[in-house]
Amino acid sequence: LYIGVDLGTSAVKLLLMNGEGKIEKIVSREYPLSFPHPGWSEQKPEDWWKESLEGIRELTADCDKSQVAGISFGGQMHGLVILDEQDNVIRPAILWNDGRTGRETDYLNQVIGKDKLSQYTANIAFAGFTAPKILWVKENEPENFNKIKKIMLPKDYLAYKLSGTHCCDMSDASGMLLLDVKNRCWSKEMLDICGITEEQMPKLFESYETVGTLKPELAKDLGIPASCKIVAGAGDNAAAAVGTGTVGDGMCNISLGTSGTIFISSKEFGVDPNNALHAFAHADGCYHLMGCMLSAASCNKWWMDEIIGTKDYAEEQAKIQKLGENNVYFLPYLMGERSPHNNPNARGTFIGLTMDSTRADMTQAVLEGVAFAIRDSFEVAKSLGIKIERTKICGGGAKSPLWKKMIANILNIKVDVIESEEGPALGGAMLAAVANGEFASVEDAAAKIVKVTGTVEPEPELAAKYEEKYRKFAKIYPTVKDLFS
Ligand code: XUL
Repeated sequence: LYIGVDLGTSAVKLLLMNGEGKIEKIVSREYPLSFPHPGWSEQKPEDWWKESLEGIRELTADCDKSQVAGISFGGQMHGLVILDEQDNVIRPAILWNDGRTGRETDYLNQVIGKDKLSQYTANIAFAGFTAPKILWVKENEPENFNKIKKIMLPKDYLAYKLSGTHCCDMSDASGMLLLDVKNRCWSKEMLDICGITEEQMPKLFESYETVGTLKPELAKDLGIPASCKIVAGAGDNAAAAVGTGTVGDGMCNISLGTSGTIFISSKEFGVDPNNALHAFAHADGCYHLMGCMLSAASCNKWWMDEIIGTKDYAEEQAKIQKLGENNVYFLPYLMGERSPHNNPNARGTFIGLTMDSTRADMTQAVLEGVAFAIRDSFEVAKSLGIKIERTKICGGGAKSPLWKKMIANILNIKVDVIESEEGPALGGAMLAAVANGEFASVEDAAAKIVKVTGTVEPEPELAAKYEEKYRKFAKIYPTVKDLFS
């Protein structure tokens, strides 16, 4: 049995999978997210650990615990976790969707220079990346900076607590802006720029490599064998790609979670010369390009929970009547935006309201706005000559048939629906199984486990209507961006 831990932004999801790839059980446990200032986003690593440990207990409550042979992860990326000499967390983690580092990002992109950053790491600085956060702590909290013994990413804190190994995998490390992605090693230049040393950094592993075994005291406490392997795992997008079979060359996955991503796998290392898409390592030992929007399913959650005040998302979506004909538009930049605008000050906006606009039109605009914003990154990929004819889809938003239909028609590509949309948690469990020799490689695991059960085809008439709508959507941000500061 294998456990995949998806350390998300709203909750940790844990999945139990058998050696053949069959999902036996899934549990989920929430923890708080705090926004101490507008645009800031923090969580307590201690909460992640507490809920993950309880989650493992709950997940394995009625299985033969002696059979649990591996645990691995998909984790929210980029979050800065810092530990002191005594292994205590120094301050709350600064998350991937935190926009406080405008100054540090500008310093890196403009003073160090995008060309240098790209040469050292294959990427430029974005506010959510880890390196600008390290500079922020150095500048604003020097007493905390001076205490740093170890730097890690969110899921690596769990691996560390479980195994005692200070580790990070290549895919997640890519998002720190400290990794030389092409050569899969820490960039000495970037560590120097941030004023940190390699000793403070975790040891690098491929996602499917074992970092250690379960600490004996935890093994006793959880009833799981101490031989249980703790496997490096991946950033949640790379783990989701594994869980949806997005490995090898030219495969695509869209994730509609708190963030929204479009992920394109590649055997070869490649960089987007405009740096709008991230050039990261993949969990299969290869590479990928990715566009990331900071608010995707979270826009819908905000609209439903905070504004309309309903929990019945399906009922609200059933009222939507005007596919391809909605004149209301929504910019989904509730936490600023990463790809492709790289603007932490961008904000959400409704445009085009009239006296006869309905709540359903606005609900529709929110869902469409997210799909249009994914199309923005898709356009960047197309401009690089990448041909994408179909995609997989995962994340909470993928549960909505309507949203899948919008994606298929707004991007005008086929959307393959897979048996399980549990992307990162399943991917994590698959990585643990690969490390334990159940499958020859990550690609082999994906080929044997992931099953496509249907396809949402774009409809030519609707896709043509959406093409026109997208042209209008694409003009809105450049027109209003000066209002955001
Ligand atoms: C990717 C990113 C997000 C988080 C979400 O670059 O920032 O997708 O990984 O957990």
